[in-house]
Amino acid sequence: MADSLPLPLRVRPARIVDASAIRMAATITWTSAYKHLIAPENIAAVLRDNYSVANVEQSIAREDSAWFIAELMMPPNLGKIIGYAHCGSYLALGNANDVMLQSMYILPEYQRKGAGTALWGQALVWGKDHQKSRMFIGVLTQNVAARRFYELQGAKVSHEDKLTIGSQILPETWLQLDLS
Ligand SMILES: CC(C)(COP(=O)(O)OP(=O)(O)OC[C@H]1O[C@@H](n2cnc3c(N)ncnc32)[C@H](O)[C@@H]1OP(=O)(O)O)[C@@H](O)C(=O)NCCC(=O)NCCS
Repeated sequence: MADSLPLPLRVRPARIVDASAIRMAATITWTSAYKHLIAPENIAAVLRDNYSVANVEQSIAREDSAWFIAELMMPPNLGKIIGYAHCGSYLALGNANDVMLQSMYILPEYQRKGAGTALWGQALVWGKDHQKSRMFIGVLTQNVAARRFYELQGAKVSHEDKLTIGSQILPETWLQLDLS
């Protein structure tokens, strides 16, 4: 790890009651990670539309996707949710054997302590358990740190695309990992 001991963490499937904590983690992490890439009003729109508690609750309840959360296992923050990952097969990827990692966010102060790797591992297990053969990840092309993370996990660049976020159209790099 970069500068500290590994965190005592537990990674588990999210429950409906975790929706508020996921929304909070998304709010903090999106605001920090994308402050130089995405306009504040567009970040606010994503958080309002995609991360409303009701939307997250509905998404957690779906059977064709999975949310995993990383929570601290040490006092005084025992049970604090410090990150999450969301993967699913319901978006139109064009191949029923593909799974998409739709989000992976770790609170800034807990990054580079192994939580992302632990969540990534759970997403891979979910994909394999659901007989998926490939995992796809879309990353803002300018998000060099996240691309580095996924490439270190073995994902390879698949293709380039564009992503519309509110009023912005941003370059997006897709990575792919074979699960078979
Ligand atoms: C990208 C992210 C999910 C990785 O999770 P994490 O818990 O920080 O990653 P890990 O501690 O498991 O890191 C594993 C390895 O990935 C690489 N890595 C992770 N973050 C990195 C960064 N910012 N810069 C360079 N390499 C990085 C490192 O090699 C790291 O190992 P090391 O710390 O021993 O050098 C997390 O940093 C994050 O939430 N970033 C902001 C939001 C974001 O960009 N999410 C992805 C959207 S597609």
